[in-house]
Amino acid sequence: MTDDLPARAADLDAADPLAGYRERFITPPAAELLSYLDGNSLGRPLEATARLVDAFIREQWGGRLIRGWDEGWLEWPLTLGDRLGSVALGAAPGQTVIGDSTTVLIYKLARAAVDARSGRRTVVLDTDNFPTDRYVLEGIAAERGLRLVWIETDPAAGITPEQVADVVDDDTALVLFSHVAYRSGWLADIAAINRVAHAAGALTMWDLCHSAGSVPVELDEWGVDLAVGCTYKYLNGGPGAPAFAYLRRELQSELRQPIQGWMGHRAAFEMGPGYEPATGIRALLSGTPPILAMVPLQANLDMLEMAGIAAVRAKSLLLTGYVLDLADEWLAPYGVAVAGPREPSRRGGHVTLRRDGFKEFLEPLWDSGVIPDYRRPDGLRIGPAPLSTSFAEVCQGLTVLRELLEKSRR
Ligand SMILES: Cc1ncc(COP(=O)(O)O)c(C=O)c1O
Repeated sequence: MTDDLPARAADLDAADPLAGYRERFITPPAAELLSYLDGNSLGRPLEATARLVDAFIREQWGGRLIRGWDEGWLEWPLTLGDRLGSVALGAAPGQTVIGDSTTVLIYKLARAAVDARSGRRTVVLDTDNFPTDRYVLEGIAAERGLRLVWIETDPAAGITPEQVADVVDDDTALVLFSHVAYRSGWLADIAAINRVAHAAGALTMWDLCHSAGSVPVELDEWGVDLAVGCTYKYLNGGPGAPAFAYLRRELQSELRQPIQGWMGHRAAFEMGPGYEPATGIRALLSGTPPILAMVPLQANLDMLEMAGIAAVRAKSLLLTGYVLDLADEWLAPYGVAVAGPREPSRRGGHVTLRRDGFKEFLEPLWDSGVIPDYRRPDGLRIGPAPLSTSFAEVCQGLTVLRELLEKSRR
């Protein structure tokens, strides 16, 4: 491999076993999209997604109409959940369900968890978790008279087992953290943190928004109790696509989620007088599942299964490693710093760069067809989704950023 960075991109692309997958994505003209570096915010659509959605509308919705519910739709939240569990989450069947948004599922699961440990009065979380996670827990704490115990995390790093060990005790009902920190890209050691929390008797919940479809997850093996995540980032489910929830089998008869709707009832169509939860994971459902919005996820799971999550992770590490090299060699001279972990074992799927005034670069970057992600106050997140991004594309995007930095100097 050469040290010439553009040439290195060409070498890496030539050696990339996943390179062919890029052709499966809908690709706008280069004038509109030169370099998409925001797979960690919204994944790109597949050509197959457009075909599947069209076929669903014409054949299933248009053709079968209400009969579709009896012919399979009612099972989709569970069957698709099982598929996602097997392809990307290391979850055996019967523990994963698709529906609602991540926010709503955090509420359902966390409320169920704290009620199941009602003798315990605290919930542990960290100051740099994604806002929705923090806000939902603030609401639950107010509802249930619980105290939130905050771990101060470094925004350029993330949560460690030692930090968790310092605060959990026999009063902790639940801990909630993100597997990959949305800001820094820090990859938490779920298994080690679970061991610490479980030793104190607490339940563990993980937000997998930034890892599902990018970083291999082993929910069963790591002893995770509850997990949630979205499907619109690395799972390419589309804007506002339904989220997923995982509830460990052994807890399913114990935990009761609070939004008791007819679809989570033991016998939805009996329309009976009182609520009786379904057995198993179905009890996490509330209202009518968003069937149409689940169609894109199917197309993506077909692709992810074929590519294999291990190969996706291997390419992701090469991509983020390449971003780090470009940042060090090309951008550091302009005052750009890497604000996240460098070690591969602690790196999620994106790299965060920081520099005062980065906000002003966003518009000219977009005008040039380069789309990274901006996070206040001064962070640019570079999130190259492995199945849709080439090394040359990363190189082109950061070339434009370097040119803008040089221009701003003059
Ligand atoms: C870690 C994390 N949790 C939750 C969310 C969003 O939740 P929702 O899909 O309910 O908007 C995001 C969105 O980017 C996120 O990054």
